[in-house]
Amino acid sequence: MCGIVGYIGKRDVAPLLLEGLQRLEYRGYDSAGVVITGKSGVLKTVKAKGRVRELEARIPKRFTGTTGIAHTRWATHGAPNDENAHPHLDADGKVALVHNGIIDNADDLRAKLIADGVEFTSETDSEVVVHLIGRSQADTLEAKVQEALRRIEGTYGIAVMHQDFPDRIVVARNGSPVVLGIGDKEMFVASDVAALVSHTRQVVTLDDGEMATLKADDFRTYTTEGSTTSATPTTVEWEAESYDMGGHDTYMHKEISEQPDAVDRVLRGRIDDRFSTVHLGGLNLDPREARSVRRIKILGCGTSYHAGQIGAQMIEELARIPSDAEPASEFRYRNPVVDPDTLYIAVSQSGETYDVLAAVQELKRKGARVLGVVNVVGSAIARETDGGVYVHAGPEVCVVSTKCFTNTVVAFGLLALHLGRIRDLSVADGKRIIAGLRKLPAQIAEMLEGEAEIEKLAAEYAGAKSMMFIGRVRGYPVAREASLKLKEISYIHAEAYPASELKHGPLALIEPALPTVAIVPDDELLEKNRAALEEIKARSGRILAVAHQVQEKADHTIVVPKNEVELDPILMGIPLQLFAYHTAKAMGRDIDKPRNLAKSVTVE
Ligand code: AGP
Repeated sequence: MCGIVGYIGKRDVAPLLLEGLQRLEYRGYDSAGVVITGKSGVLKTVKAKGRVRELEARIPKRFTGTTGIAHTRWATHGAPNDENAHPHLDADGKVALVHNGIIDNADDLRAKLIADGVEFTSETDSEVVVHLIGRSQADTLEAKVQEALRRIEGTYGIAVMHQDFPDRIVVARNGSPVVLGIGDKEMFVASDVAALVSHTRQVVTLDDGEMATLKADDFRTYTTEGSTTSATPTTVEWEAESYDMGGHDTYMHKEISEQPDAVDRVLRGRIDDRFSTVHLGGLNLDPREARSVRRIKILGCGTSYHAGQIGAQMIEELARIPSDAEPASEFRYRNPVVDPDTLYIAVSQSGETYDVLAAVQELKRKGARVLGVVNVVGSAIARETDGGVYVHAGPEVCVVSTKCFTNTVVAFGLLALHLGRIRDLSVADGKRIIAGLRKLPAQIAEMLEGEAEIEKLAAEYAGAKSMMFIGRVRGYPVAREASLKLKEISYIHAEAYPASELKHGPLALIEPALPTVAIVPDDELLEKNRAALEEIKARSGRILAVAHQVQEKADHTIVVPKNEVELDPILMGIPLQLFAYHTAKAMGRDIDKPRNLAKSVTVE
């Protein structure tokens, strides 16, 4: 969602900020803006509805300076237009602010400020903050920001410039990421390391309640109450090239093709052949604690929720711990019973999804133990949880998740094996699962080689107005994820049902114009799945099967390599990522930036 970039140093700031904004485009946005301290010391602002390239086109020739902040906005309060785009200025035009997050008491504050004679120029919640800063009588910019923050309720990542304090940018975080990038006599700030890594890999991630003052050759961190905090820079794991398209036509295609390496990474260094188990260094769950877990509840949203559903099945099968997954967005609102013997696991690719973070915070408040299965190292959810497993998929730029989904499911496979071997999973079964995990990278590579065939199938099905996805038990979350992928990027309506539920309702929809994608693994439910195909065929439905062997009743079958039954879901989803990709491509969709969606949903 919204993105922040800022710079203070010696270089010409506008091109740096625009480059940073471009690197944040993947997060989703609808307008953009930039403010710099011009040569005369006056703040200069340019804003534009639409893409960063439209902002760039509006930047005048002499827009030079060495300090500035910029923003990509995802509309929450007020329409996407030039006025509502950030940065916002105070009444005197001396203070500029960019803000990510939501100010919950904005309406109250706005009413009070209007009563005091302040004229608002936008409909945003963010504008109240800049007026509060501008009206503060405190002596320093830091104190003015602190005074304003004391009056606001809600979430924020902010960056502030003040004409009377031209040597600094002040930033603050509460629930919305703020990362400082430390350069050589220059400092950067961003809401996402993607905007920093082409300049520096030395970063400091602020905690909630923390602020920082950035000067060209120095920075300091402190709390919103003013106490100094210690900030040790860490090195970002990924090179700038990891965020480039690398010769592919879309990030989605690049990320799908990276899966053999990504899966290799999540396995690397974790397998312990001696005890037929895995080591998960960051889990913070000793064997005694692991044995005392009586139930596991997995929480995530969208694709991560689907990965959690597969994870729950793996844990239940391999570790025999009753497990289930639930959308974090629902869980946090239903006053759940928090049981001390339940282990909670929060799943998030970005580690920022607000609904997941809020669920974690609610659980922690109630004393639950919460682990994370997260991709982004050091992200809010990773830091909020008591331990967990990083999925090491590498940066995922496309709004729709592919390699992160696969790696998350593999990470659950590792966790299930680990818990299983602490409990009742035999050495022989441990060995069997390890052998299966080791086969995955090569099997994924083999499937990706079949892309041309999948492209042809996608062209055949691209005309459908609606599609049905079915699977049973292990195949059901695979069907749900494949259906989500298709609808996210092609905008074809898609439904996912357990194959077992067909005759309880959705069979009524089956007709030649509604194709069905069926997940048909060679497992103990093969005959049951085949019976579902018969039922569809009898109603003249078209069928595309994803199976371990050609399905007679299907019009087409994508054959996937066989692994251990417990690991089948990892492989069966991959051809359907390519299917969604090629369907969307055949329909001319903007694959990396599907309409109405953002990569990280950091607001309610
Ligand atoms: C993935 O294709 C989706 N864009 C979306 O469902 C996403 O998985 C969801 O918003 C959760 O994001 P997270 O994994 O970063 O928490």
